[in-house]
Amino acid sequence: MIYMTGNELRKKFLQFFADKNHLVLQSAPLIPENDPTLLLVGAGMAPFKPFFTGKMNPPHPRISTSQKCVRTGDIENVGRTARHHTFFEMLGNFSFGDYFKKEAIAWAWEFITEHLEMPVDKLWVTIHTGDDEAFAIWTQDIKVPADRIIRMEDNFWEIGPGPCGPCSEIYFDLGEERGCGNADCAVGCDCDRYLEIWNLVFTQYDRDEAGNYTPLAKKNIDTGAGLERIASVLQLKPSNFETDLLFPLIAYAAKIANVEYGHSNKIDVSLKVIADHIRSMTVMIADGVLPSNEGRGYVLRRILRRAVRHARLLGIERMFLVEMVDVVVEIFAEAYPDLGEKEAYIKKVIQLEEERFQTTLVQGMELLTKHIQALKETGVKILDGATVFKLYDTFGFPWELTLEIVEEHGMELDKQAFDIAMKEQRERARAGRQANEEQVIIPDLSHLDTAQLSINEEGHDANVVLLWKNGVIVNEVHDGEDIGIILDVTAFHAEGGGQVGDNGFIEGALGKIEITAVKKLLNGTVYHLGHVIEGSLKVSDAVALKVDLRRRRDIARNHTATHLLHAALKEVLGSHVNQAGSFVNPDRLRFDFSHFSQVTVEELAAVEKIVNRAALENISVDIIETSQDKAKEMGALALFGEKYGESVRVVSVGDVSIELCGGSHIRNTAEIGLVKIVSEAGIGSGIRRIEAVTGTGAVEYINARENLLLNAATLLKARPEEIITRVDSVISKVKELEQELAALTAKQAHVEVQELLAKAQEVNQVQVVVGQVSSADMDGLRTVADLVRDHLKCGVVALGSVNADKVNFVVMATKEAVAKGIHAGNIVKVVAKIAGGGGGGRPDMAQAGGKQPEKIAEALQAAVEVISNQVQ
Ligand code: SER
Repeated sequence: MIYMTGNELRKKFLQFFADKNHLVLQSAPLIPENDPTLLLVGAGMAPFKPFFTGKMNPPHPRISTSQKCVRTGDIENVGRTARHHTFFEMLGNFSFGDYFKKEAIAWAWEFITEHLEMPVDKLWVTIHTGDDEAFAIWTQDIKVPADRIIRMEDNFWEIGPGPCGPCSEIYFDLGEERGCGNADCAVGCDCDRYLEIWNLVFTQYDRDEAGNYTPLAKKNIDTGAGLERIASVLQLKPSNFETDLLFPLIAYAAKIANVEYGHSNKIDVSLKVIADHIRSMTVMIADGVLPSNEGRGYVLRRILRRAVRHARLLGIERMFLVEMVDVVVEIFAEAYPDLGEKEAYIKKVIQLEEERFQTTLVQGMELLTKHIQALKETGVKILDGATVFKLYDTFGFPWELTLEIVEEHGMELDKQAFDIAMKEQRERARAGRQANEEQVIIPDLSHLDTAQLSINEEGHDANVVLLWKNGVIVNEVHDGEDIGIILDVTAFHAEGGGQVGDNGFIEGALGKIEITAVKKLLNGTVYHLGHVIEGSLKVSDAVALKVDLRRRRDIARNHTATHLLHAALKEVLGSHVNQAGSFVNPDRLRFDFSHFSQVTVEELAAVEKIVNRAALENISVDIIETSQDKAKEMGALALFGEKYGESVRVVSVGDVSIELCGGSHIRNTAEIGLVKIVSEAGIGSGIRRIEAVTGTGAVEYINARENLLLNAATLLKARPEEIITRVDSVISKVKELEQELAALTAKQAHVEVQELLAKAQEVNQVQVVVGQVSSADMDGLRTVADLVRDHLKCGVVALGSVNADKVNFVVMATKEAVAKGIHAGNIVKVVAKIAGGGGGGRPDMAQAGGKQPEKIAEALQAAVEVISNQVQ
């Protein structure tokens, strides 16, 4: 075997595949581009998914890379085995519909045995159980003995949704002394003896979110070889951690902690965790990940805090991560020179996060130790969710870290209760944010030099002037916090005059705020409310302003359309129309105005037509600042309820509309697209309200309407234009059928009445008619009973019918029968009870229901008995 440094190995691999006509590319950043299924790149193939699926054409059919990867699924194994990492580099060669198994297998073997000179007798091969093709290549082309090839059911590689396929792996046998000693220890055993150094994936399928596998149009190759693992073999090291890719970090941490590596497993684990984690965090931050409580930011936070905790275990009490960045930068100077360029930035992010955790770590650990102690005393083995949540919320312990600590004491934690506490907190925060937006607590801003503040809606850069949290001015804000912020110059448009404010992001070098509301103080100072989603920000930071411009344009469209609507209403309904309020957001516009009768359909159509005509006429919208008097001279309409200073803003749309307004507007009416009025209604005495949509909102509205029409047409089995005639004919048909049904029912009832009368019995001079009829509902049943009674002089009729899973009964008696002692109510009571129901009524008429239709015959039989008893 040839000794090689990590750098030499990386270079040699890429050169080998360059010689096989591969295009060698730089590692892609860890943050996946356009791939919401992945938080972080965790495999060499991840950046190439669209090339495998055929969604994009690769720049070359063969590519080779050394890809930066982060995986945290096995984080608890890091430091405990020789080969697990959160950050690692994956050497890979890829074929996109070009070469397949034959070449991929041959080249892997050539590189390993000829270029790295690994002894053949140490190598083992696995294949997917059914892959006879790979078996043939390995045995016939490569001449690997059949007993060195192991078929494995789980040799199928996938990482979430995306390209995947069966795989074939190459293992290096590190010798019996590295094994677990178990009799069945073999390739695939979890111990450190057989090391997987190469994975050849035959990428033939695309897996969707639901877990369906669709064959890909082309067969591909995705191979992955762990750089650190191969380096450990070539460098004859007992684990990846002793290679030159990681050991300098272990040595550095050992020096700070004043411990020696290689004497205690516990110490070694902590040193390895630190070495692994500092590599991860450095590269993640360089690639743009910032600590947060969500997504990849949380992965970073968790890794960093885990490293700090292991440093504590080693007795390191001071801040130490920042200095270790130097060692990472040195290790990667050749492979990732950008780390050096971003060193100051990386250190700053790490320092802030480390500081934050250091301040709470000790108290958190005290609390946790106390709880663990108490649990030990009581013999309970589960740490309660409230404590896990407190550790997370107050002391910044990722719950996974708490779990790891309690597991070290042979305990578990109540994850379910923690999740519930988290959910409740999120809900509280959401409610709080809403309340916050409605009733913002603004700190005392009297010292603010407002002359220094300005607005430039086209601008992109600013500096933070003031920050606050819960109404208290602070110097720094952190992720997860709801905050207020004032800038020296803002590009955000504040809410006012019925228009909502802009949304967007304010981004500093070390943090990002999502802005959800922008408001103005009475003196005109604009302030922003938002939520820190990543990292942190402090006063004086330079920030980039990222207003959601698409949203602003939607608002502007609706606002200019509101002015046009105002003018059109005056034109159609008369000059008495005046604005009584308005609300403009990106989705729709609402305009309230004075008018004393309903707006007719024709008037509304005329208004809509005028507004749309203005939109089509391509009229420019002009905005000027001028004096109030000048504005009045120009004929500007003042907005409802607004107070204006000496200088006012006049918005005019050609000679169609001129208003005083501070809102957002488009430059030209053509940008409105289409205006569609969606409702008109009265909202109080003399005030009407119109709602309308424009631009994309109008398109969506019309599409939704069209869909309704299409669905109705499909149901009616007609073309959309035939709907009206079809509905007309359906209505007539229904009427016709109803009449027919009524006639038939009457006829049926008549027949049944005759049949019942034919079966009448006489008990003590009382005619008794009992039977089951077909009319299902109570009304029908009553009609039949009525008809029967009409034929009786002194008689009683008791009828039952089944209606789905219920049964109905009606009993009626003539006056004479009642005089003889018949009581319909008492009869029905007994009858219904038998059929699982109840009811009652008057002596001459009673009805009831039951729940057991199968008992109807028995119940009616009982009716005969009760009647007989009543007339004895
Ligand atoms: N995608 C496979 C792996 O990550 C081979 O590159 O193991």
